[in-house]
Amino acid sequence: MSDQAGGDPLFQSHDPIFNRKELLHVGHVPDEDRIVGRDDEIQSVAAEVGAITRGDPPNNVMIYGKTGTGKSLISRHVATRARDAAQRNDIDCSVLYVDCSEANTETRATRQLALNLKEETGYQEHIPLRGVGTMEYYQHIWRILDECFDSIVVILDEIDKLDNSNILMQLSRAREAQKTDAYIGVIGISNKIQYRETLDERIDSSFGHRELFFHPYDASQLREIMRNREDAFQPDVLEDGTIELCAALAAKKHGDARKAIEILKEAGELARRTGSEIVSEDHIQQAQEVAEINRIEELTSGATVHAKLALYALASRIITGDRETYKTREIYERYVGICELVANDPITENGLYRQLKEQAFLGVIESEKTGGGRSQGSYLLHRLVTDPKHIVKAVRRDSSLEDLPTYDQLVDRSSEVQNRDVDLSSFS
Ligand SMILES: Nc1ncnc2c1ncn2[C@@H]1O[C@H](COP(=O)(O)OP(=O)(O)O)[C@@H](O)[C@H]1O
Ligand SMILES: [Mg+2]
Repeated sequence: MSDQAGGDPLFQSHDPIFNRKELLHVGHVPDEDRIVGRDDEIQSVAAEVGAITRGDPPNNVMIYGKTGTGKSLISRHVATRARDAAQRNDIDCSVLYVDCSEANTETRATRQLALNLKEETGYQEHIPLRGVGTMEYYQHIWRILDECFDSIVVILDEIDKLDNSNILMQLSRAREAQKTDAYIGVIGISNKIQYRETLDERIDSSFGHRELFFHPYDASQLREIMRNREDAFQPDVLEDGTIELCAALAAKKHGDARKAIEILKEAGELARRTGSEIVSEDHIQQAQEVAEINRIEELTSGATVHAKLALYALASRIITGDRETYKTREIYERYVGICELVANDPITENGLYRQLKEQAFLGVIESEKTGGGRSQGSYLLHRLVTDPKHIVKAVRRDSSLEDLPTYDQLVDRSSEVQNRDVDLSSFS
C-alpha cells in the first residue's frame, strides 16, 4: 500500500473496506482489459473514425443509448487509440472532448474547443473568455488546426443538451468551405433516442453520419464489469453473492453500468459507516434503495410542485389501491385531495395531464393508451416505473411537501380502509 500519510504515522489510516476506491469513481476510465462486452461497439466506432490512422478522412457518427451503456467510455477509448495509432504513423492528430451538458451553447462549446486546442499546442494568440462571439472562437480553431494538425476527432457528449446544432454543420463543412485543411471527425453522443428525429430537422446533408445504438447491459455483463473492479475492495471484504446480487438488481432496473458501480460503492461506504468488516447482500439492498431514491429525486428535482403532487397522487393510489395503473381522471381526483392537504391550489385536469406527459418523457412513469371499448372511447393509463415507496420519499424531500403522509402511513391507511377511494384529506 502506498504511503498517503506523508511518512507521519499520525496520519496513517487503514481503510478496512476499500483498497483502491478510485476504481469506483464515476469519472474513472478503466484500462482496456477491464472493458467488458462491448467488442462489437468498439469495432463499429473504430470503423468510422479509423481512417485517420491512415491519413484519410474519418466518418461522422452518432451514438444513441440509455445512460450507463458505455457510450462515453467507448468513444474516448476508441478515439484515443486511433489518435495514438495515427501519431505512430507520423500523422498529427488530436482528440477533443466536449461535455455538452456543461458547455450547452454553441459559444461555450466552441470556446472550450479553442481553449483545449491552445493548451495542447502552445498557440500564442490570446483567446478571450468572454465578450466575443462564436465566430471568433471558430477562427482560432481553424487557425490552430491548420498550424498543427492533420486530423482531429471531436467528441460531443450529451449533444442533445446543446441549444442548437450549428456546430455540427460548421465542423463537417470546414474543409469544403476552405476554413481548414485538417480532417475533422465528429462523434456525437445522445442518451435520448428522441434526439434522432429532431436531429434530421436540424441539420442538412452536409453532416453525413452513421448511427450506432448501444443497448443496456445484461446481468452477466454487469457482473463482469464489477468483477473487474473487485480490487477496489480489500481482499475478502465482499461477501459471496454480493456482486451477483448487485448485477441482478441493476439489470432488472435499467442495465446501467454506472448505477451498478455506484451501488457497489455505496454498499461499501454503508458497511464502513456502520463498522462492518464485510460488505453483505443486505448492504447492497440498502444501497440500491438509496441509489433509486437519488435517481428519482434527480429526475424530479427540476419538476414543478404540481408534477411532484401528480406523482405522489399516482404513487399513493398504487399503495392504497389494488392496481398498478390508473387513469388520468383517477389520478386527478386524488391529486385534488392532496392539494388540499398541502394548501395548494390545484391546476386543471388538462394541466395535470401535461405534467404526467412530461414525467413520462423523463422516464419516471409510463403512459399507455387503452381502448375503453366502443362506447367509452380511449383513455390513458399511467404506471410508475419505480417502486411507489421511492416516489413518496423523493417527493417528501421537497420542504414544502414534507407534511404529506409517509409511505408507512399510506400502507397503514390502506389496510384500515378497504375502500380504494380513501379520502386522503383525513390525514392531517
Ligand atoms: N463495458 C464496460 N466495461 C467496463 N466498465 C464500463 C463499461 N461500460 C461502462 N462502464 C463504466 O460505467 C460507467 C458509465 O459508463 P459511460 O461510458 O459513462 O456510460 P454512458 O456514457 O453511456 O452514460 C463508467 O464509469 C464506465 O467506466
Ligand atoms: Mg455518457
